[in-house]
Amino acid sequence: MEFTRLRAWQESDAADVVHAINNKEVLNNLRDGIPYPYSLADAESFIRSRLDADKNEAFAWAITDNGRVIGSIGIFRKGNIHRLTAEMGYYLAEDFWGKGIATEAVREAVSYVFLHTDIVRVYAEPFARNLASCRVLEKAGFTFEGVLRKNAIKNGEILDMRLYSIVR
Ligand SMILES: CC(C)(COP(=O)(O)OP(=O)(O)OC[C@H]1O[C@@H](n2cnc3c(N)ncnc32)[C@H](O)[C@@H]1OP(=O)(O)O)[C@@H](O)C(=O)NCCC(=O)NCCS
Repeated sequence: MEFTRLRAWQESDAADVVHAINNKEVLNNLRDGIPYPYSLADAESFIRSRLDADKNEAFAWAITDNGRVIGSIGIFRKGNIHRLTAEMGYYLAEDFWGKGIATEAVREAVSYVFLHTDIVRVYAEPFARNLASCRVLEKAGFTFEGVLRKNAIKNGEILDMRLYSIVR
């Protein structure tokens, strides 16, 4: 499958990853566990983990603009009875927000997984207040399945999340 926004990670992308993720506006919308400040070594080990991941379990790409890496997207298979279900996550460098790029990336990643794997459901759980991410999912054809009330604690605040999915 031909991608326009996505490509495989390369070790040389580390500096661009640092630029994209070393930003509280990005990190405040992601899970905990990502270092801040985020170092070149952090980016290198992130890229290595993506390159080393099991090819049947993790589908992860750099998001690009004119060949430059500006973000990250991944779809990760769950286990046990959920093994045909996968969770998606993504982020974009703030200077590239609002141009439709995340929506394109989501469409491409989901198309790939439905075309090349046996996964039948991809879901995402943005914070309910992350209106941009909710909108991305809606524009990419995901269905809103409900509010996950008080489903997370982020920066000391208890937050609702929203569950979106797309099925094959
Ligand atoms: C969420 C994120 C990926 C969106 O990327 P993006 O490329 O700007 O998204 P798009 O341009 O494709 O679409 C954004 C949509 O949200 C809308 N939007 C943005 N901010 C909004 C707000 N505060 N209220 C309502 N809608 C908003 C935009 O208008 C656009 O919708 P439209 O095309 O109908 O006008 C990006 O903001 C990001 O990386 N955020 C930090 C990390 C993150 O939240 N990751 C997702 C975790 S679930």
